[in-house]
Amino acid sequence: MDNYVKLEKVGEGTYGKVYKARDKNTGRLVALKKTRLDMQDEGVPSTALREVALLHMLSQSLYVVRLLSVEHIDKGGKPLLYLVFEYLDTDLKKYMDFTNRRKPFGMDHFRTIKHLMYQLCKGVSHCHSHGVMHRDLKPQNLLVDQDKGLLKIADLGLGRAFTVPLKSYTHEIVTLWYRAPEILLGASHYSVPVDMWSVGCIFGELAKRSPLFPGDSELQQLLHIFRLLGTPSEEVWPGVTKLRDWHEYPKWSPQKLELVIPGLDQQGLDLLQQMLIYDPAKRISAKAALQHSYFDDVDESQF
Ligand SMILES: Nc1ncnc2c1ncn2[C@@H]1O[C@H](COP(=O)(O)OP(=O)(O)O)[C@@H](O)[C@H]1O
Ligand SMILES: [Mg+2]
Repeated sequence: MDNYVKLEKVGEGTYGKVYKARDKNTGRLVALKKTRLDMQDEGVPSTALREVALLHMLSQSLYVVRLLSVEHIDKGGKPLLYLVFEYLDTDLKKYMDFTNRRKPFGMDHFRTIKHLMYQLCKGVSHCHSHGVMHRDLKPQNLLVDQDKGLLKIADLGLGRAFTVPLKSYTHEIVTLWYRAPEILLGASHYSVPVDMWSVGCIFGELAKRSPLFPGDSELQQLLHIFRLLGTPSEEVWPGVTKLRDWHEYPKWSPQKLELVIPGLDQQGLDLLQQMLIYDPAKRISAKAALQHSYFDDVDESQF
């Protein structure tokens, strides 16, 4: 770790601290993330090595934060693994907090959203095509380079438990706002569509300038969703009433998205609607989203 000068702490997420640092050899800014992997006497467990290899492969995409190196150090007999990532200015949460305070909103607001969403779908499509689901897509896990208008997916996998914890290591409540209804309802099997639900929530939040479903408990989270999209039934989502945590809920009918999100054009609304389809089997995939007419006028060369 002598190769890095630790600067300030930039983040404290679900699993640990992230530091901004400078690489002494290249002068480049990096982000250092200590992993919470349990080292064994024999060194790095093979499962961890496999995950690092996977992370490294995924980070070859322009739309996933680049893993620059992995440092294996010995801290007073305790082996630690540090991941070294390229550094980006900010994350999407901080970015939204900043831009949402700036009024009046520029005419280019919806163009910016389209570009961010395009890059997000690209990154998600890349991960899914390698058989990896993120499981915890949210603004805090999306990094943004404000000057260049770039968005990259961060906080991918690496020993991530198979369930996302409810509390972080500092006992901070983990947000439920982006969690898919099949997870909230206790589905025993779920897959990549959960990420597209999160993408939809992020899309809606960018356009609306406030979170779509700001629930503070699992029940409240479901009720937020049901009030906007209508309470799901066997008709729209076969099997929903058989899920482990299904109960009888008030029967709300769906609201018109355009009333909740004024300003988003018809194509944007159509894409958002398809990301927020209840039945995971019918929800739009990342690959199909990229083909949606909403993105027809995106010039990919600018990224
Ligand atoms: N490469 C990076 N460049 C700049 N900031 C980062 C970088 N990686 C993470 N961060 C910041 O640190 C926070 C926590 O990082 P993250 O990888 O999400 O860890 P956790 O697993 O603890 O949630 C992020 O929300 C972000 O604000
Ligand atoms: Mg995180």
